[in-house]
Amino acid sequence: MSSAERELNLHGKTVVVAGGTSGIGRATALELAQRGAEVVVIGRDRAKGAEVVRALEQTPAGAGAFVEADLALIAETRRVARALTARLSRLDALILSAGAIQFEAQLTSEKLDRMFVTNFLHRVALAEELAPLLAKGRGRMVSIVADVPDWVHPDWANFEGERVYAGALGLVPLLAANLAAVQGWAEEWRARGIQVFAMHPGQVATDIYRGFKGWRSLGRIAMRPFQISVEKPARLAAWLAFSPDVQDASGALFPSVRRFTRRRTLARNGVERVLRTARGVLSEHAH
Ligand SMILES: NC(=O)c1ccc[n+]([C@@H]2O[C@H](COP(=O)([O-])OP(=O)(O)OC[C@H]3O[C@@H](n4cnc5c(N)ncnc54)[C@H](OP(=O)(O)O)[C@@H]3O)[C@@H](O)[C@H]2O)c1
Repeated sequence: MSSAERELNLHGKTVVVAGGTSGIGRATALELAQRGAEVVVIGRDRAKGAEVVRALEQTPAGAGAFVEADLALIAETRRVARALTARLSRLDALILSAGAIQFEAQLTSEKLDRMFVTNFLHRVALAEELAPLLAKGRGRMVSIVADVPDWVHPDWANFEGERVYAGALGLVPLLAANLAAVQGWAEEWRARGIQVFAMHPGQVATDIYRGFKGWRSLGRIAMRPFQISVEKPARLAAWLAFSPDVQDASGALFPSVRRFTRRRTLARNGVERVLRTARGVLSEHAH
C-alpha cells in the first residue's frame, strides 16, 4: 500500500456501490468501509446483500446498507436512485460495478435487451439520477469498465436500433459505450464539480465468468493463470474515488491496477451520440 493510499481517511464519507454484492464491487465496498466510509451496496441477490452488510459491520465504518434491485430494469434502477436521493443529503462517490455476461439474448419485461441494460443503460440512468447528489458532495464517479481502444465503437446500427447483445464479444461494444459516457459526463459535469473516471480492473477472478459452461469453460480455465484477486482493482477504485492525486484527471481511463498513477486520456468519437441514444431510450421508459 502506497503512502497516498494509507492516508485516505474516509470517515464521514458516503458511497454507493452498484454491483456491490459480489466480485470487484463487493471488494471495493469493503475497501472503502475499511477506511471509514459509510457504504450502500446495490445488488440483486438478497442473501449476498445480507452477507455484505454483515462484512461491512465488521469494518471501522461499523455499518453498511444493502438495497435490492434488478438493474436490468430501468424502473427498478430509477426506484433505487429516487430512494437514495430521498435518504441521503449528498454523495461523495458512486462506483458503477454491476455487469453480467449471458450467452443467450433475452428481452426484459421492459422489452429491452438484458445485456444492454445490465452492462450499459442502467449506468446512464443511475448516474444521471444521482448526479444532483454527487454535485452536492462535489463527488466522484468511478465506472469499472475495461481498457477498450478508442477506435472500438458501439455497433451503431444495433446500438441505435434493435439492441441485441450476447456473450463476451457482445460485451465489448457496450464497454466502449460506457467509456464514451465517462468521457461525456466528465465534460458535462465539470462545472458541477463532479469528477468521473473509468478504470480497467485487469483480468479478475470473479463470478462474472460463471456462465462459461461446456466448451466455454475451457476459456475460463485458460484465463485462470492470468487472473488477479479482487482486492487489487478494489484498491484502485477506492483510490480513484477519493485520492487528491487525480484531481486533474476527470474523464481519464486508469488502465493499471499495478501502477495506479498511469492514466490514458479518452479520445473517443461519437460520445454525444452515445449519450443522446441512451437518453432517448430512457425517455421512452419515463415513469
Ligand atoms: N472480472 C473481470 O475480469 C472483469 C474485467 C473487465 C471488466 N469487468 C467489469 O467489472 C464489473 C464487475 O464485475 P465482476 O467481475 O466483479 O463480476 P461479479 O462478481 O459477477 O459482480 C457483478 C455484480 O453486478 C451485480 N449485477 C449483475 N446483474 C445485476 C442486475 N441485473 N441487477 C443488479 N445487480 C446486478 C451482481 O449482483 P448480484 O450478485 O446480486 O446478482 C454483482 O454484485 C462488470 O461490469 C464487468 O464487466 C470485470
